[in-house]
Formats: sequence, structure tokens, C-alpha cells
Amino acid sequence: MRIIESLEEMHAEAADIAARRAECGFVPTMGALHEGHLSLMERAVAENDVTVASVFVNPTQFMPGEDFDNYPRTWEEDLDAAEQAGVDIIFHPTAEQMYPPRAQTSVLVHTLTQGLCGMSRGQGHFRGVTTVVAKLFNLVRPTRAYFGQKDAQQALVIQRMVIDLNFNIEIIVCPIVREEDGLALSSRNRNIPPEYRDRALALREALVRGRNLIRDGQYDAFQLTNVMQEMVLQDPDIELDYLDIVSPETLEEVERVDDLVLIAGAMKIGGVRLIDNILVGPDGPWSD
Ligand code: PAJ
Repeated sequence: MRIIESLEEMHAEAADIAARRAECGFVPTMGALHEGHLSLMERAVAENDVTVASVFVNPTQFMPGEDFDNYPRTWEEDLDAAEQAGVDIIFHPTAEQMYPPRAQTSVLVHTLTQGLCGMSRGQGHFRGVTTVVAKLFNLVRPTRAYFGQKDAQQALVIQRMVIDLNFNIEIIVCPIVREEDGLALSSRNRNIPPEYRDRALALREALVRGRNLIRDGQYDAFQLTNVMQEMVLQDPDIELDYLDIVSPETLEEVERVDDLVLIAGAMKIGGVRLIDNILVGPDGPWSD
């Protein structure tokens, strides 16, 4: 596995891959790799000639007061894990190269970023995400790029950006990988104090409850959200950022579950912010 740390070298490698007419799969990450990341990498390896994964804790997507400094960094372990997954190239740029002092351009997807995490973290979070992903796409020039359904809004925002800015890249969204008890894997799970770990499941449990109520014929979004929110709020140590039922295409809130909906939530426990979601409609699916 080759490690590339300079933008020039990445540009040259991308040109080389293109000249060989090889298909390139790309998995952007912020490191602290876990099985969720690795599932994306393994899929990219299976579907492409060359797989590039980036490890870059992108400062511009952390809002003031967020956990940029405490974000887990496990570089040596990440290298081993990526190599095991069959990744060919790790791209690991520095913040100084990615954001030189005179940089002043950003990318903003306007409407899809207003609700959910855009409401609770601010649209600036997604501005940081789309800006860095657009830059990474230009540096790596992949055929396909892989994102997780865990960050459903992010995946949708990236898909919109790719269409709007005419990137010739196929976006592939992969299923959520979970711990045995159902907690969605996240780099931030490492920061959950052990005494809170069991209660970190509250959001997942509420989402499953919502799905079960839909299976039982409860389609009123207001009623469903009330039940789910109350479940989470039973624990005084949990701060619920949002828990909404939205259209999986527009992310606008729905009144009734007539079709497939995205139930998405974010909460803080023990100083750690966790997100999760579930896709469900009147006819299921009933598992995940
Ligand atoms: P990061 O949180 O490291 O996630 C990298 C990719 O892994 C994202 O596409 C995310 O959705 C996916 N992922 C994370 N947890 C997952 C899980 N449990 N199951 C499946 N996929 C999972 O998302 C980012 O980094 C950044 O915003 C980035 C896109 C790299 C831009 O900086």
C-alpha cells in the first residue's frame, strides 16, 4: 500500500491511473477506521482496479466548540486496517496544503443542508464537507466514490453536488454497519465514557420502535415522532438534537408515512454526538 502525502503526488498518480484506463474507487474518511469504513473499502476494492482511501480530519467541517481537537486519531492502526481491506493508496494530506492561507472558495448545497444536522450543527458543517469532498474528487479523480448510509444527509448532499457540478463520478451509498447490540459504528464511539455506553443505544431503540409502530399501522408522523422523542428524552443525561421523519429525497418533513421515509436523529450523551437513521415505509423493510 502506497501512502501519498502531497497534493502534487496525488495529482500525478490520478493522471497515471487515468492513462492506464484503470477504474478508480475512492473512500474518503477522517480516519479512526472501524468496520463501517472497512465495508466501504472492501466494496471499492471489489468493484474497481485501484482503490484510494483518504484519511483527513477536515477542520472546516467542525463548527466552533465541536470536537475537532478530541476527534480520535489512530494513524498507525488505520494503515494496517486499510491494507488488510486491500486499499492500494492512502491519501493523507495536511491541512496546510488543503487550506493554504489565501484560499477563499467553498461549495454549498443550499436546501438539502438546511434541516437535520444542518439545523443542529449549522449549514457551515456541510459547507466544509462538500468543499473538502469536491477538492478530494479533483485530486483523486475517481470513477466511483463510496459513502455510508450512516450519514444519510451527507450522502444525499454529495449526490446533489456531483449532479449540480457535473462531476463524472458514480456515488455508491453503502448500508450502516452496527455493533452487535445495534449501535451504529462511529469513530466517535471511542469517546463515549464506558458508563454511558449502554444508554447510547437510546436513539437506535427509538428508531426501531418507530419502525415497529409503522409495521403495526401507525402512519401519523406527529404521533410517531412524539413516541420516539419521548423514549429518548426519558434519560436526563441525553440531549436530543433532533429526531425527524423526512422524505428520503428532499429531507422535508412528512405528515404521513405513505411511502418510504427516512427517520433520522442526533443526540449527545457523555459529551459525544451520535447520529443514526432508518429507512422504512408502510411495506417495510422491517430489518436492519
Ligand atoms: P467519516 O465519519 O470518517 O466517515 C467516512 C465514511 O464512512 C462516510 O461515508 C460515512 O458515512 C461512512 N461510515 C461511517 N460510519 C459508518 C457505519 N457505521 N456504516 C457504514 N458507513 C459508515 O464522513 C466523513 O468521515 C467526512 O464527512 C468525509 C466524507 C470524509 C469528509 O470529510
